[in-house]
Amino acid sequence: MTRKTSTATVFNLLQLACLIATTSASIVSTGDFNRDFDVTWSPDHVNTSPDGRTRSLKLDQESGSAFASKDMFLFGQIDMQIKLIPGYSAGTVLAFYLASDQPNRDEIDFEFLGNVTGQPYILQTNIYANGYDNREERIYLWFDPTKDFHTYSILWNLHQIVFMVDWVPIRLYRNHADKGVAYPRRQPMSLKASLWNGDSWATRGGQDKVDYSKGPFIVSFRNYKIDACVWKGNPRFCRGDSTTNWWNNPRLSSLNWYQRRLFKWVRKYHLIYDYCQDTNRFQNHLPKECSLPKY
Ligand SMILES: *[C@@H]1O[C@H](CO)[C@@H](O)[C@H](O)[C@H]1NC(C)=O
Repeated sequence: MTRKTSTATVFNLLQLACLIATTSASIVSTGDFNRDFDVTWSPDHVNTSPDGRTRSLKLDQESGSAFASKDMFLFGQIDMQIKLIPGYSAGTVLAFYLASDQPNRDEIDFEFLGNVTGQPYILQTNIYANGYDNREERIYLWFDPTKDFHTYSILWNLHQIVFMVDWVPIRLYRNHADKGVAYPRRQPMSLKASLWNGDSWATRGGQDKVDYSKGPFIVSFRNYKIDACVWKGNPRFCRGDSTTNWWNNPRLSSLNWYQRRLFKWVRKYHLIYDYCQDTNRFQNHLPKECSLPKY
């Protein structure tokens, strides 16, 4: 009898363990663009390989194009391999970003600003929190992003947002909500990519225009990974300190010493603009986060 009970108990525990495992908040995406993303702009400008593993966006005189994840996410990490437009790409903008659909929206942006042949792309990053942005940073990459695929990632948890390029942290935004700085933490976001004409501002402040005779302009994507909490209507599910939410691991609450070294290297040698240093623009009223600890 006792023996039977204990077997039954073990069995129940196993069942419970399975239940916890299957209700774990994190999902890993399938790697198939057709399954995880919808085409949201100009389907005839979006090309997906037969196995769904690679996709490209096209911009020409007719239209740009875009896709967006079917699910929304609250915390986690996303990685995407991207190869940018070779040759002449002036005036084009590729945006790869997380965005909520609220009026006071949250957004975590990579924006790749094209250039004339032989001149470097700029990688601009920005953060909207509660509808307010104006938090641009710009870097030159340490490689030619049009030659090969490189991995662009966002780690997002309750402590920090880390932008990474090939796992090198290029930008950090810490949660200083306790000091009154808005931090994206309540609104679920979709993962989006769009390619468009931004030539009123993108290249040398709008001086170099899109030249359609040099197009079509094509950006390729592959090998993405979304390991994030899928929004099912309950923020506590994604925020919970439970160990099933791997992004809450204390190890991910700040950069480790090695990441900090890389981060400092990027800022020393590759940073070209930081809103926190732009005293003209903010008339000496720099946003509050600029005077708070970076790490
Ligand atoms: C384009 O090239 C010019 C000249 O090297 C440079 O000043 C600029 O930062 C580059 N990138 C963009 C997006 O304007």
